[in-house]
Amino acid sequence: MSERSASLLVTDSLGIQFGGLRAVDGVQLRVGSGEVVGLIGPNGAGKTTCFNMITGVYKPTSGSISLGGERIDGMATTEINRRGIARTFQNIRLFRSMTVLDNVRVALHRQADYGIFSSVLRLPSYRRAEAQLRKRALELLDVFSLVGRSNDIASGLPYGEQRKLEIVRALATNPKLLLLDEPAAGMNPQETAQLTELIGRLRREFGVSILLIEHDMSLVMKICEHIYVLDYGKEIAQGEPTAIQNNQQVIKAYLGEA
Ligand SMILES: Nc1ncnc2c1ncn2[C@@H]1O[C@H](COP(=O)(O)OP(=O)(O)OP(=O)(O)O)[C@@H](O)[C@H]1O
Ligand SMILES: [Mg+2]
Repeated sequence: MSERSASLLVTDSLGIQFGGLRAVDGVQLRVGSGEVVGLIGPNGAGKTTCFNMITGVYKPTSGSISLGGERIDGMATTEINRRGIARTFQNIRLFRSMTVLDNVRVALHRQADYGIFSSVLRLPSYRRAEAQLRKRALELLDVFSLVGRSNDIASGLPYGEQRKLEIVRALATNPKLLLLDEPAAGMNPQETAQLTELIGRLRREFGVSILLIEHDMSLVMKICEHIYVLDYGKEIAQGEPTAIQNNQQVIKAYLGEA
């Protein structure tokens, strides 16, 4: 196994129970600084539930979650976002009736509320601060080739572009770790290829680490340096892409049908 970089996110014996269902059970994830890590497995394996615990939507019933060595489990979603974790959703969540630009501006404003707000307030005029946010929003949209869509209403965008806009919005909160829940779902092969390239740029140009849930195995195997496999809430394998692709238990539980 090749060496991995210093830990950014670590979950230790992470678990959650919904009534009689152990949706996630004893999961040990690790995302190194600057890594792209995959989280895969069949439908209902507990992947999104892991994201929900990491982002504070659900409180784990067992185990712990640390970011940069500090415990974050049990914290509010806004606090976890402030500490550097942003996500996208399996079912796209945008401000559907707002413009593309405003979707990003709202995210930048939220970030400003916590981080740069004081410095923003000190600027000579509110208008200049607004102009700065607008400029930053357009820069981010440019990375995703969405500037031409700035004034379009979000709900009118093709599906693939809505997914990209969601990533831009997550990025606007200036995360250390980006959690992407099936970003390629509903994309055509050309959009998926573009997304693969974009995820590479995110880590290079923005220095973010990425934890990726995805059913598109060509995408996962191409960009992840490490992969965790869940099945019925339990981790059944972890390792490099080639090892995962050849793991009999993974093939039986998931890859055989994928
Ligand atoms: N709030 C909840 N209450 C009860 N059960 C839940 C809740 N959230 C998730 N579950 C259950 O936990 C299990 C794991 O669901 P989860 O959404 O994490 O799966 P997944 O791996 O993301 O699957 P998919 O690939 O289909 O998105 C499922 O059986 C699901 O029905
Ligand atoms: Mg899911």
